Amino acid sequence: MSTNTPLRIGLVGVGRIGRMHAEIIARDVPGAELTMVHDVVPELAHQVAARLGVEAAGSPAELVASERVDAIGICSSTDTHVEIIELAAAAGKAVMCEKPLSRSLAEVDRAVELVESSGIAFMTGFNRRFDPGHQAVHDAIRDGSIGAVHLTRISSRDPELPSLDYLRVSGGLFVDMAIHDFDMARYIAGPVVQVYAQGEVLIDSAIGDAGDIDTAVTVLTHANRSVTVIDNSRLATYGYDQRVEAFGSRGMASSDNRRLHNAEVTDASGTRQQPLMRFFIDRYAEAYRREWFAFVDYVRGGGPSPVTVRDGRAPVVIAGAASESMRRGAPVEVDVALG
Ligand SMILES: NC(=O)c1ccc[n+]([C@@H]2O[C@H](COP(=O)([O-])OP(=O)(O)OC[C@H]3O[C@@H](n4cnc5c(N)ncnc54)[C@H](O)[C@@H]3O)[C@@H](O)[C@H]2O)c1
Repeated sequence: MSTNTPLRIGLVGVGRIGRMHAEIIARDVPGAELTMVHDVVPELAHQVAARLGVEAAGSPAELVASERVDAIGICSSTDTHVEIIELAAAAGKAVMCEKPLSRSLAEVDRAVELVESSGIAFMTGFNRRFDPGHQAVHDAIRDGSIGAVHLTRISSRDPELPSLDYLRVSGGLFVDMAIHDFDMARYIAGPVVQVYAQGEVLIDSAIGDAGDIDTAVTVLTHANRSVTVIDNSRLATYGYDQRVEAFGSRGMASSDNRRLHNAEVTDASGTRQQPLMRFFIDRYAEAYRREWFAFVDYVRGGGPSPVTVRDGRAPVVIAGAASESMRRGAPVEVDVALG
């Protein structure tokens, strides 16, 4: 493909996150063009297509096969990801797939096999790696600024409870929510070899009745023997709380919360700041855009995927180990090649 020709992207699934991705690609990604969308709910696809001036496809197969589509964005419900990866692999088309690749490790393994045997370009949608602040923490380790990493701390707390219907099919806090944090831990401190997790129901007993937890702490030991502590809550009453800190032999790097704006008001009673940004679409807006920039550069320029299919697999393995650890009340070992 000539570097002057835009990468034509077709998007499957235009729900909450897919609509946002569609807007970003259509309006904000140099070198990319949104050409087609599909959703199993046709009205949704037609709405988005009309607003953005693109075509609506009648099925994932039609979208993947279209001559006007070079690459596929998979933003549909998690349980549909692997079947769409299979279509893309058969057509030899590049894929950017939302996390998690699947809730089932067997299905994730099928995705790995499909991607690696077909050789398609593939990127897993762990958007937080593209947040400039979190990326700077990662870079401070990679470029030696803070020496060897010893400790990583990640706080990740959502501002609102998901519906019980969502929770029942979500796969649970570890695979649905903490999956981002397991990826962040690997991004900063490398492969994981042990997982020790504790979880509780402190917010709403209905979450426990649905078989899930709402509060968790996970301790990860990495292959380099550094340790990450992750705390998760499904309900932070003050907004979307997202903090990452790495402590190393020569310093410390941290990426703090983002607020609505930076102003502070000080009077005799103290200093007030703006509330935290509300949720992921606002907080990570820049990261989602940079994720697409990285995808387009990768598909056009070649080289290693910014977030490989195996990077998509490892957090699912870690999530499974976290659930097992919580059940057993003991640490669970993870094969270094998989974690
Ligand atoms: N990276 C992130 O920050 C982030 C945030 C939210 C959701 N996600 C992930 O994105 C995916 C979608 O989540 P969401 O919150 O947008 O959910 P959603 O339910 O709002 O949207 C999913 C959409 O997929 C459509 N769909 C379902 N099956 C389909 C099929 N076979 N073909 C085409 N469309 C189909 C649904 O009709 C719906 O419009 C999930 O995998 C989720 O884990 C990622």
